Amino acid sequence: MRKRRNWASRTTRAMRMADRPLVLVVDGPNLGRLGRREPDIYGTVTRDGLLGMMAVKAAELGLELETFRSDVEGELVRFINDAAARASALVINPAAYSHYSIALMDAMGAFDGPVLEVHISQVLSREPFRRRMVTAMEADVFIAGAGVDGYLHALDLAARMLSGARGGSGGGER
Ligand code: DQA
Repeated sequence: MRKRRNWASRTTRAMRMADRPLVLVVDGPNLGRLGRREPDIYGTVTRDGLLGMMAVKAAELGLELETFRSDVEGELVRFINDAAARASALVINPAAYSHYSIALMDAMGAFDGPVLEVHISQVLSREPFRRRMVTAMEADVFIAGAGVDGYLHALDLAARMLSGARGGSGGGER
């Protein structure tokens, strides 16, 4: 289970390496077809369009982004582990792997910084097998059903968590 932490100290450490905190944005299988894949569920914004929207948002928030997408579970795990040391936060849509990948869940659990899991669709109101959320056990934040705007909300929240400014009961130390 995810431990709550004070992420502001994490920012300070990561920022020794970069002026702006680096946020990893990781997408799982089939998300490369965003915009064309089941647009009634996932919308018409393509992944390139989404990356453009995120780049604008990241610039506004003073974040640096590194994006990665793969259809292969092991490649996602390897990317997260290899990039973890230089990154301050992780925004991830594990796609179908969300429902059964313990390997990805473990990589998220080992990530030392806020982990924000995003789903474009409202997974809990879809088929029963999508209600089984495995990777989300290791997410600090879970966003579902906001469309691609969920990624932008995740960046907003990541910036707030890294600055220690997030309100509510979810982000602080106890
Ligand atoms: C998804 C939901 C998953 O159930 C599905 O397998 C996806 C996309 C979403 O963003 O809504 O590929 O993660």
